[in-house]
Amino acid sequence: MKQNLFNNLPLHVAIIMDGNGRWASIRGLPRVKGHEAGIDAAKKIINKAGEMGIKYLTLFAFSIENWGRPQDEVMYLFSLFDKAINTYSDELIANGVKVKFMGTLSLLPPDIQEGVSLLESQTADNNHLTLVIAMSYGSRQEIVDATKAISQKILNDQMTIDDINVDSFRQYLYLPELPDPDLIIRTSGEKRFSNFLLFQSAYSELYFTDTLWPDFDESEFEEAIADFYNRKRRYGKI
Ligand code: IPE
Ligand code: IPE
Ligand code: MG
Repeated sequence: MKQNLFNNLPLHVAIIMDGNGRWASIRGLPRVKGHEAGIDAAKKIINKAGEMGIKYLTLFAFSIENWGRPQDEVMYLFSLFDKAINTYSDELIANGVKVKFMGTLSLLPPDIQEGVSLLESQTADNNHLTLVIAMSYGSRQEIVDATKAISQKILNDQMTIDDINVDSFRQYLYLPELPDPDLIIRTSGEKRFSNFLLFQSAYSELYFTDTLWPDFDESEFEEAIADFYNRKRRYGKI
């Protein structure tokens, strides 16, 4: 099966990276140590996805609901994101990774907003792997934002109600050019979307593992891809 794996790669893999806090708790460490280890895991999987030739990888890094966590955890997380952007940007640029951020980015601390737009512009011409980081992201908010933008177009007489359909609606999502995820992985044993890619996941294949995100490694990523290889996708047909 392994030799065929690379012939049937999912075009777009999206990951709900969950379980950092529990990973730290079972080691008697503060939750933030789990987030630190989680960044290392993300780095490994980004490299692995690039090596395998996957074209789109989306990582759910911080949800819009995560703003409701204790302020010190949120602040620590953003200091880790800031550090990760600074530490890895040269390598991402050199490896041909195009980085895009998706979410309500206006809520991010100003220095992170700057780092985000700099990294996006520095990697804009890359085309090996597109890495999407969902940050301050909520799928319901994305759908509401799209609806507002469409309503405004109609009010401005730039569009009519009959112009709204699934394909035109998509054009108002945060990253309209991003194909729907073929495979969504969630770690840590939870089996829910937690407000992630609700519109885009209509026909995604789902893969759940009990592994906590900091322990998720290259071989488990390969296992998830191998599992995808055996799925029969019917899209409602026979
Ligand atoms: C995922 O790990 C990372 C973020 C949501 C930022 P958690 O922090 O949710 O870890 P658990 O689920 O509490 O173990
Ligand atoms: C989902 O994990 C968000 C991210 C992985 C960034 P959560 O830990 O926030 O989700 P719930 O609260 O268990 O649904
Ligand atoms: Mg969690």
